[in-house]
Amino acid sequence: MRETQAKWEENELAAALKSRPEEKGLYETECGIPLKRIYTAADIADIPASDLGFPGAYPFTRGVHSTMYRGKPWTIRQVAGFGNPEATNQRYKYMIQTGQTGLSTDFDLPTLLGLDSDNPMAFGEVGRVGVAIDTVDDVDRLFDGIDLEKISVSLTINPSAWVIYSMFIAVAEERGCDLHKLTGTLQADPLKEYVAQKEWIYPVRPAVRLMRDLIMHSAKATPKINPISLSGYHLSDVGGNAIQEIAFIMAFTIAYCEEVIEAGMEIDDFAPRLSFFFISQQDFFEQICKFRAARRVYARIMSERFDAKKPESMRLRVHVQTAAMSLTKVEHHNNLMRTAIQALGAVLGGCQSMHTNGLDEAFAIPTEEAMKLAIRTQQIIRDEINVTSVIDPLGGSYFIERLTQDMENEIWKILKEVNERGGAIKLVEEGWFQQKLADSAYATFRKIDTGEKISVGVNRHVDEKSGVAEVGIHPYDEQCTQLQIDRLNSVRVNRDGRRVQNLLKELAEQARSADINLLPKTIELVKARATLGEICGALKDVWGSYAEPMIV
Ligand code: 5AD
Repeated sequence: MRETQAKWEENELAAALKSRPEEKGLYETECGIPLKRIYTAADIADIPASDLGFPGAYPFTRGVHSTMYRGKPWTIRQVAGFGNPEATNQRYKYMIQTGQTGLSTDFDLPTLLGLDSDNPMAFGEVGRVGVAIDTVDDVDRLFDGIDLEKISVSLTINPSAWVIYSMFIAVAEERGCDLHKLTGTLQADPLKEYVAQKEWIYPVRPAVRLMRDLIMHSAKATPKINPISLSGYHLSDVGGNAIQEIAFIMAFTIAYCEEVIEAGMEIDDFAPRLSFFFISQQDFFEQICKFRAARRVYARIMSERFDAKKPESMRLRVHVQTAAMSLTKVEHHNNLMRTAIQALGAVLGGCQSMHTNGLDEAFAIPTEEAMKLAIRTQQIIRDEINVTSVIDPLGGSYFIERLTQDMENEIWKILKEVNERGGAIKLVEEGWFQQKLADSAYATFRKIDTGEKISVGVNRHVDEKSGVAEVGIHPYDEQCTQLQIDRLNSVRVNRDGRRVQNLLKELAEQARSADINLLPKTIELVKARATLGEICGALKDVWGSYAEPMIV
């Protein structure tokens, strides 16, 4: 092969390059891996067949299930959340009717930050970018008429995750559900908050302890719930590249596993329930290889570093969302095409669950119509174009296997550096990841400015006439704040206030000792109608809050 290629380069290629020179001197992927003009068997001669393996078996490069989409298609899981719980509940029902197969909740900023709707800091934000939740009764309203034993529910909640989980459990119990049958996922990934999404309440170490408590409690009480979704999506959203997305998340995975193991749990007792959330970005083949490389790296970390024995501990299951950052206000219908292509990449990469963005992503949270088109996009990929019959259909492609391997190598390099520098938690506190992401974002935006990175309709193929159209966007319901406040007042009047105060004191006391699991007390609290803000506030008194180190 190498000889034939050398001859081809001397003859046909040399002649072609003379008559038709290539457009660029250097071709590379988004994250900077150089691309050859063609790949052959010679390019993958060093990759052993065992690195590919078979789907559902170590090292899971080709997928986490042995039958993949033949046995079960990915879950169509559009995230939704706005206004009062009833408003979001209506949207859920609409989306289930449209063919969505899983639920996913986005919470408003006050809820994410552990503030009640009547906190002055919450003013203007109640129900704006997600649903407002103050008490366990709100969670009951949110899932009214929805059978929690039948549909899986993903909760996009972070610093206050352990409280929302407690409310979810309390609602399920009050409804008589079997907790062992509940399926779903909490995002609850604290480290990525400090480096990317920037929603925090407490300093880094107590936040990690809460995550640990949640993982350990959930493993016993709700064994089919994933208590964490390690989220690379947000790292990409703030400008991180594909290698950083996976490498940083694997570094966080290692830190979390060490934390839980140190508290006395065996890796195989919690690792099967670790789950992941990655982006499907614009560079099509790079993204497909990213998913494949991530599975292989994870399998190796679990097996080699943590000595996991169960195959379930080594399979990286991933929810994917298409890339919000790639979507534009200009000619917003183009966003449908972008999203469809990114979604196809996620499917060829072997995702388990997916959210496709609305065509109005660049304007506001999505309308019902935008979500219908997004669901249809996934249904067209699933049901019309026959891409689900063969597992890992791109596997074995010279290019795909080479790029998968190159990405894996780059990921290991970063993991080695994190190790040498003292591990992820220390580096988060020092702002190391933040610095790397900022550098990468700067490089990306420079490429956009110079036109090297193309956005159709924005910096290439610009149509002065079309510009930004009038788009009907999701309206903000100004009334929703007062309703939340009225409900809070009524809860506070009707509960046993003394009992709540005592329980809050007990929780704060427990928080002072690192080895007590805070979940049982929190569940007691939410059942006694303590509010989210009260519970989060009680721990702020113990742990303080977080101030971000300035990174320039
Ligand atoms: N409803 C629907 N989608 C949302 N997103 C965030 N909040 C909501 C919401 N309330 C989606 C957007 C955003 C990504 C992080 O999640 O697509 O870009």
